[in-house]
Amino acid sequence: MAARGQFSSRLGFLMAAAGSAVGLGNIWGFPTQTASNGGAAFVLVYLALAFLLAYPALMAELTIGRAKRANVVDALGSVSTGKTAHYVGATVGLAGVLTASLILSFYAILAGWMMSHMIEPIATLAGATETGTWLTTQGPGRDIIFTILFSILTMLIIVGGVRDGIEKWSTRLMPSLITILIALIIYVLMQPGAMDGLKLYLVPDFSGITNPDLLLSAMGQAFFSLSLGVGTMLIYGSYVSEKENLPRLGASLTLIDTGIAFTAGLLIIPAMFVAQEYGTTIYSEAGELAAGPGLIFAVLPSVFDGMGATGSFVAIAFFLLMSIAALTSSISMLEVPVSFVSEHFNIERKIATFATGTAILAFSILIALNFDTMFGFVADLATVYLEPLIGLAFCIFAGWLWNRNEAMKAIAAGHPDGESAWFVKVWPWYVKVVCPALIITMLFPTVQKLFS
Ligand code: PHE
Repeated sequence: MAARGQFSSRLGFLMAAAGSAVGLGNIWGFPTQTASNGGAAFVLVYLALAFLLAYPALMAELTIGRAKRANVVDALGSVSTGKTAHYVGATVGLAGVLTASLILSFYAILAGWMMSHMIEPIATLAGATETGTWLTTQGPGRDIIFTILFSILTMLIIVGGVRDGIEKWSTRLMPSLITILIALIIYVLMQPGAMDGLKLYLVPDFSGITNPDLLLSAMGQAFFSLSLGVGTMLIYGSYVSEKENLPRLGASLTLIDTGIAFTAGLLIIPAMFVAQEYGTTIYSEAGELAAGPGLIFAVLPSVFDGMGATGSFVAIAFFLLMSIAALTSSISMLEVPVSFVSEHFNIERKIATFATGTAILAFSILIALNFDTMFGFVADLATVYLEPLIGLAFCIFAGWLWNRNEAMKAIAAGHPDGESAWFVKVWPWYVKVVCPALIITMLFPTVQKLFS
């Protein structure tokens, strides 16, 4: 078997992991959840959950990955020496592989939408108005073509492996993403109406803060945004050197991810209020702010249209930003099944990539053909239920089934203070008791609803 890949440096890991974490969840999910859940009050709850729950859970994945140096199935299967623990671990690992694949199957459709909207202004500028209309009208034909294109891009990067695929492309794409994001924010904040949006985003309304649904959305958002509960961070952790200070890398990653989500809100929410200036309705009759596809594909394009000729370029830049964000995340989803298939069955990476990539693509096409019945179901199943549940299982493996000394050694490796660092001392206990308790408490109302 070929030697396992490894990121070339700390920066290489950070670019790849931030590429995974920063995605549609940050630029689309976070701002809209914030706007509909009390503005800055949601941001505060979210930040608290990101650092007090998601960060230690992220450390469970990174640490198990780095210590076991294997794909998610074999890594979890070897956390504890017992036979039962081995089978349970492998089963949880398989659930991770399945969930990563499910997420990729619907995410690739969304990403395809971003690509078709990116090309539309070009087609329209070139005079092909009919093509332009087709590109912005949802339907199985268009969706399938762009899902295929996006999936092929994802597979081509993953075939390259850890350094020449994931790291190389994340390092190229992440700086472009940040540049486009900042340029767009500056532009939008100069437009009329932008300040009203900024106010809604930044002035807290604490009235809904204890609502269990709000807490659950914030937790789901934090897990999804940090790519937790599917094995992505475990496998990225398995490519990190023993010399790196893992708790610090994880903290940087959490900061980058929440920072970019927060920054994206400075673009999306003000842009909605600029759209309102242009005559677009941004509130539903029930008084709710536009959030889903309507926001990205109707509200924002109306801002771009209102800007005349420059609007086309702003639209291209915006959808390019979304496509890049989606691509660096989708490669990290595909790496989960690919690393499992290639390592566990000792299959060449190229074959493993195209085989799993094509199988997932086939499922995406099935979803595209049955969009109304399947899309929401698959997305909810994977992100609302499976991700937090598997995240919970990762914490239980790290906290309860892993030998405490071994776990401490693993997380302390590369830390300048070694096992005497306070984080290293607190974390095993925290991930054992506090993380599971928080996840279970927040999941409970949903589970209760399922059975009532
Ligand atoms: N974190 C990505 C986003 O915010 C989504 C993702 C989930 C990526 C799970 C990998 C694994 O869009």
